[in-house]
Amino acid sequence: MSIPKPEGSTLRLGSTAPDFKAETSRGPISFHEFIGDSWVVLFSHPDDFTPVCTTELGAFAKLQPEFEKRGVKLIGLSANTTDSHQAWIKDIDEVTGSHLTFPIIADPERKIALAYDMIDFQDASNVDDKGVQFTIRSVFIIDPKKKVRLILSYPASTGRNTAEVLRVIDSLQTGDRNRVTTPINWVPGDDVIVHPSVTNEEAKSLFPQFRVIKPYLRLTPLDSSK
Ligand code: BEZ
Repeated sequence: MSIPKPEGSTLRLGSTAPDFKAETSRGPISFHEFIGDSWVVLFSHPDDFTPVCTTELGAFAKLQPEFEKRGVKLIGLSANTTDSHQAWIKDIDEVTGSHLTFPIIADPERKIALAYDMIDFQDASNVDDKGVQFTIRSVFIIDPKKKVRLILSYPASTGRNTAEVLRVIDSLQTGDRNRVTTPINWVPGDDVIVHPSVTNEEAKSLFPQFRVIKPYLRLTPLDSSK
């Protein structure tokens, strides 16, 4: 399988997520068809039966209803076969009390990991001189236009934070629906920032309660239904 890297060698925010066909724990997929008109969180693992990753997959599975509420499909990737994934999923459900139903992509040759720049050292053999896996521990948020909107890479030692992934989705979707951005540590319900492209004149009608902290920093509450 050969997956061209998009727009040069580096996947960047705003790149189109590379398309690929792959086997998954739920059957074969074509990635762009899988995305369809949904948002997608794609997150990856270097190997099945790794401890930190086991806790992460269980946590994502338990939060699946929260992702679905936001129109987001979850999909994992791990550098092993589907048979191995099936056995790992049994363990994940046993250990974490989850019921994992989203697909986990089989990427035993790490071709998708390489195309997405997920490998921490650019070598598809992905093992160091002691036989320990280099990490494939990325999170991508992909929007319905198939554009990459967030890229995170985690070290092996540090479990991901599902609340942060949900928070970024809330921020991106709020920003796409309204002419706003979101400040540090924002969570839904907090004040948002009026987008710099909005003039004060426009802001008066769009955000009647906006206030000017500095000419470049204008805050406003936002109706939670927006
Ligand atoms: C883990 O604990 O999930 C892990 C271990 C080694 C490499 C990457 C991840």
